[in-house]
Amino acid sequence: MSMLLQALIALPVSLDSVSVDFRQEVLPILQSRCVECHQDPAKNSGKRPKGGLRLDGKYWILEGNKFGPVIVPGSPLESTLINLIGLEADDPDRMPPKGDKLSNNEVNTLRRWVTEGAHFGDWTGAPGPNEVNVPTPKPPTGKLPTIIQRLLKLGEGVTPITESARILAAGARGTISPVFPSSPLLSVSFTSHQGRTGTRDLLSLAPIAENIATLDLGRTRITNASLAVTAKMSRLMKLDLRQTNITSEAIQHLIGASNLRSLNLFSSEVDDSALSIIASLNKLETVYLWQSKCTAAGVQKLRAERPDMRVIYEAILPPPERPAPDDSGGQRRRR
Ligand code: HEC
Repeated sequence: MSMLLQALIALPVSLDSVSVDFRQEVLPILQSRCVECHQDPAKNSGKRPKGGLRLDGKYWILEGNKFGPVIVPGSPLESTLINLIGLEADDPDRMPPKGDKLSNNEVNTLRRWVTEGAHFGDWTGAPGPNEVNVPTPKPPTGKLPTIIQRLLKLGEGVTPITESARILAAGARGTISPVFPSSPLLSVSFTSHQGRTGTRDLLSLAPIAENIATLDLGRTRITNASLAVTAKMSRLMKLDLRQTNITSEAIQHLIGASNLRSLNLFSSEVDDSALSIIASLNKLETVYLWQSKCTAAGVQKLRAERPDMRVIYEAILPPPERPAPDDSGGQRRRR
């Protein structure tokens, strides 16, 4: 399963109440980053739109694909399109699948547009087969994706952190945001200060540890010992330690991580001696061990012990281009 967490991170809420203008703000993003793969075959030397989805006209955007609508006006959490553009850069399901990830601003613009009701103004774009019948947008069902349901459950009864705790912890150079608007659970990342982030920064998270659901320490200078603070993070679902110097010793601190679902140890110093602990993490769904010190034999044993776990030990390649006959949606399950 793809972790959609990245998609759910609340971006700073814009204080201005001016609503998003489709033509000015949304359309340029679709045209420059999406339409080349999601357009009228007649304009694309007969090539069918990827995923059976066209994004070149109001009709088509509302129509969605064979899995149903891709946007639910008013409910970004239920909108596949919004979830896919927010995925991490290296997630194979991310849209667009090639080139840079959309910027936070672009993701935020599209999310706000959907939240505000996905209005198109006077724009219609490429006409549908029956222009009179523009599809009626699907009303929000309240049926949320599994990941959101889990986060809602995990956040039950959790006290939101106080503003002063947030400011204190933010002194640690991390970016702290709710996992989705109004959730008491937090997503913490040090991506913009990787090289300078060390033990002190991590320790300063102790006061908000109970609220942390996702923690990105990738490429930072954290040490094995400082990871002891994760023992207090009883709701930690996702931990990213890629390209750090941590070794198997650090994994000891995760023994009690009963909610952990994704662990990224790509290009770390972790070796086979950590694998028994990893195998014991009941809820762990995905572990990245590519370019770690783990051996193929160790990985094979882990896979045998935990067939339910996705063990990534090879480079993740971009999704293969689907052959023409069945690229109208594929078998992929809708998230
Ligand atoms: C390079 C080609 C390419 C670009 C550019 C691209 N997509 Fe896609 N898109 C695909 C492919 C391929 C699929 C089908 C994936 C599958 O079914 O596994 C797809 C599927 C989708 C789906 C349907 C997913 C589902 O589960 O039904 C959505 C929504 C989507 N894209 C949105 C976008 C958006 C929004 C953009 C621009 C920000 C974009 N795409 C840019 C290739 C592209």
